Amino acid sequence: MYISHMDFAKQLKALVFDAYGTLFHIGALNEELNRQFGVKSEQIGNLWRSKQLEYTWLRSLMGAYQPFSKVTADALSYACRVYGVQFTDEVLKKMVNAYYHLNAFPEVEELLGKLSRQYRLAVLSNANPEMLQQAVESNQLNPYFEKVLSVDMVKVFKPNPSVYQLAVESFGVDKKEIGFISTNTWDVAGAAMFGLSAIHLNRFDTHQDVLGQKIAPQIASLSELLD
Ligand code: 2OP
Repeated sequence: MYISHMDFAKQLKALVFDAYGTLFHIGALNEELNRQFGVKSEQIGNLWRSKQLEYTWLRSLMGAYQPFSKVTADALSYACRVYGVQFTDEVLKKMVNAYYHLNAFPEVEELLGKLSRQYRLAVLSNANPEMLQQAVESNQLNPYFEKVLSVDMVKVFKPNPSVYQLAVESFGVDKKEIGFISTNTWDVAGAAMFGLSAIHLNRFDTHQDVLGQKIAPQIASLSELLD
């Protein structure tokens, strides 16, 4: 379902962006993974990302929050053990460190510049503050964001409602006046379930989860957010 630009522009006062996969391309990790793990790097990389997200959900359900940097390191060491590759703490640190400097997708800076003239902008991410701040700064995106929000403020990961509540508190506007953009369908579902105006940025041709939330309109690129 595509939205008409008029409907969209009318109701929103702020846009909140997910970080990894939405603003920042985690595919950039593949080079480093290749360097470190050679032929098994693709399986290790895939298991790393899926385990990283799984651990955020497990830790949230267990009430056992740890910063995303630790969850990311734990997930990589799990993937290495599964594929039987040797790794040192040094290697783990180096791979996790890559998350601090991931590149933004090519269109992001220009689009945020234009969008910041129409909407108030923020990032809302599972990443811990220093991890997120460095990724935003290393891509010169700081000037566009009124807020850079980390789940670390509430010590529970997405899609717990208290995370999306951070956006409401930051902007002081109604939930439906806040657009939430993510490529991660579980995140889109969480934001929609909470009551934000979730938008599925469908970079990777994924299908939305049907869990009773309002199904989000889908955009193929960030430029569709412009009036
Ligand atoms: C986030 O940045 C992990 O993409 C997810 O919150």
